[in-house]
Amino acid sequence: MGSLIFVAKETEGAEPRVAASPDTVKKMKALGFDVVVEAGAGYASRIPDAEFEKMGSRVGSGSDAASADVVLKVRRPTATELAGYKPGAIVLGVMDPYGNDEALQAMAAAGVSAFAMELMPRITRAQSMDVLSSQANLAGYQAVIDAASEYDRAMPMMMTAAGTVPAAKVFVMGAGVAGLQAIATARRLGAVVSATDVRPAAKEQVASLGAKFIAVEDEEFKAAETAAGYAKPMSAEYQAKQAALVAEHIAEQDIVITTALIPGRPAPRLVSREMLKAMKPGSVAVDLAVERGGNIEGAVAGEVVEVEGVKVIGHLNVAGRIAASASLLYAKNLVTFLETMVSKETKTLDLNIEDELVKATMLTHGGKVVHPNFGGSKEG
Ligand code: NAI
Repeated sequence: MGSLIFVAKETEGAEPRVAASPDTVKKMKALGFDVVVEAGAGYASRIPDAEFEKMGSRVGSGSDAASADVVLKVRRPTATELAGYKPGAIVLGVMDPYGNDEALQAMAAAGVSAFAMELMPRITRAQSMDVLSSQANLAGYQAVIDAASEYDRAMPMMMTAAGTVPAAKVFVMGAGVAGLQAIATARRLGAVVSATDVRPAAKEQVASLGAKFIAVEDEEFKAAETAAGYAKPMSAEYQAKQAALVAEHIAEQDIVITTALIPGRPAPRLVSREMLKAMKPGSVAVDLAVERGGNIEGAVAGEVVEVEGVKVIGHLNVAGRIAASASLLYAKNLVTFLETMVSKETKTLDLNIEDELVKATMLTHGGKVVHPNFGGSKEG
């Protein structure tokens, strides 16, 4: 008898994604697991229960979690969910661990081995397990689609017998995974695109997508990337210089899309009310960082608001707005990680706590918070 995997139906109202796909169920069966998918888990991602069943999983209910050795989730389990898990179970999900010590303690107390997929190291071996990338990529695409639908003008230049419609000018702030996809998407729609970032490596990537790079390129900028490839918080001086440059540029833009994040910290404030005020009437701004404090002054999490005449879009869970695609990629990320925990010979679970991917992502194990950034002495 193989170990049992339980694919949960997300309990948080606004989460339409699911942590498995028919494709990954097939894969998990091939790895030697039995799979139970909670009824309706895939509905909001356009995967009917029957599609999972076809691949060999059973459709079950929440109570099946009690016998599962592995629980696949999108979001961190709630207290109620945790109470239904078997001690020792492996739980994979996006755990949002920063600042949520109590929730981490609850997972430790439940005795589960909880893994935060978003802490996956950005190394070649783990690329296909990188949920931040897979979801940010789709969020970057969706941000442009959301902007286009709120924008009362056309994105591409159109030359018609009745006159010429000018191309929209789109400015993308933060050229990481989401930002680069936003640039590519806006370009495909025919916009004139520019972008900024504080990491020097972004410059070439922006240019290679056919967008113009806008940044204060001083000594601090040249050193602004961590070994892990992330941005560092910038000094007040740099931010002031950057803000001056950005203010001038933004006044000329029709659409601004912000994606700037610094891991484990509040998002940097990049667009002020003053800057929004300088934009043309009918301009649109999308704040993809709104859940982490926001890049845009006046952005409201979960709402589209008008700030100084600019429509400011602050949708939550933007990857969830393109759930059917996002779930497929997320599910694939999970199964690829899970595969590293299975012994090829015996086809059984074989968690190696010395593995670097396990070390980087495991939050709780054996009743304790075990991740060095969390628990007792917080370093994060
Ligand atoms: P992120 O989501 O943490 O941040 C988004 C972007 O905001 C980053 O490019 C960051 O530099 C930028 N940013 C931060 N503060 C800013 C400011 N004040 N002004 C303007 N921009 C600011 O980053 P993400 O998207 O996760 O990617 C970070 C880097 O990691 C990228 O270079 C990406 O290509 C790289 N990466 C590498 C992978 C691998 O090697 N396996 C996988 C995924 C990403």
